[in-house]
Amino acid sequence: MIEVQRFHAIAPSNIALLKYWGKQAGGEQWPANASLSLTLHTLHTATVAHRNHEGEHQVTLNGQRIYRGEAGAQKIFRHLDRLTTVAACSNKLTITTKNSFPTACGIASSASGFAALTIAGLAACYGTESLRVLADEYEWTAARMADLARLGSGSACRSFWGGFVQWSPGSRPDAQTYTQVYDHTYWPLWDTVVLVASGSKPILSSAGHEHAWSSPLFAPRLAGMAEKLQQFCAALTHRDLGRLGPLLEQEALEMHGVMMSAEPSTRYFGGETAAVLAWLRRLRHDEGLQLYFTLDAGPNIHILGEHGDQQRLHHRLAQDFPHYPYLCDSVGAGPQLRLLDNEDASWSAEPCRL
Ligand code: DP6
Repeated sequence: MIEVQRFHAIAPSNIALLKYWGKQAGGEQWPANASLSLTLHTLHTATVAHRNHEGEHQVTLNGQRIYRGEAGAQKIFRHLDRLTTVAACSNKLTITTKNSFPTACGIASSASGFAALTIAGLAACYGTESLRVLADEYEWTAARMADLARLGSGSACRSFWGGFVQWSPGSRPDAQTYTQVYDHTYWPLWDTVVLVASGSKPILSSAGHEHAWSSPLFAPRLAGMAEKLQQFCAALTHRDLGRLGPLLEQEALEMHGVMMSAEPSTRYFGGETAAVLAWLRRLRHDEGLQLYFTLDAGPNIHILGEHGDQQRLHHRLAQDFPHYPYLCDSVGAGPQLRLLDNEDASWSAEPCRL
């Protein structure tokens, strides 16, 4: 019997400090502005891939088999078609993928999901479990893999490096660049994600990106982006949370301002989220805790801080919002790839602390 080689990739999620919101015309997922993110450690997607002889990709997502043509599955199948074509692989792929965070907790999985799918898929096509071999022998450097993953979901391209990562649009859709600004050892920030609400988004990010241009706030936002990026970089250079934090909050609220003032207007969070944001600001003011929030396209709140303040935050969350679960995370080192033993049943992603 021929032994099937199964390739196991783990790709982290990332949280944008400076947001990607709005794409330029020209395709290839060309962002309207540069973005800057922090790669997470615990929140990740684990994906196992192998070549099959079935004539069709076989995909199991969080324990559930999905099929081409089903709503929500199309992006994944399209990505697998793109990947096997570009890798000149004559087989289809069998994919099993799991998130380390509970399904439907409202945490976006597209960044880690498309990054892990890209790495595991390419590893299976070329039959190597080495990221070095992929880069050196097959020219699949992290940047080229990021270019491919981006076509599945834009934010996935930042998950190919640990630490702090910048994604820049460049002058053409095919001249986008990625920079690891600092690695994961540079500044040990942590991120507590407060799960205020679960369920589906009022509108998918891909449609939201399109609507951004209709907001009267979008053009002035883009005009100020270069300067804002410099301010973020200066705060990172000095590891100055007192400088980074206000920028972080202002940026998240500005993105949501664009979303809400676009046509159609979209509101990704409600009163429960607003109450936690106000509470956090009070906590900072009254107790001097250096804690700052950011938001994605959803109602959950990422609270960033340093060292000892996390315990104090969790204590206060348990007191004041006992009904909201939260996930604890920190700055991560980036993706991993390995070959799975046939006996190895324990590949499943580590569950996060809830
Ligand atoms: C709000 O990457 O989900 O998280 O490229 O259409 O798949 P697509 O969009 P997506 O957009 C994420 C937007 C964001 C901000 C960010 O991650 O920078």
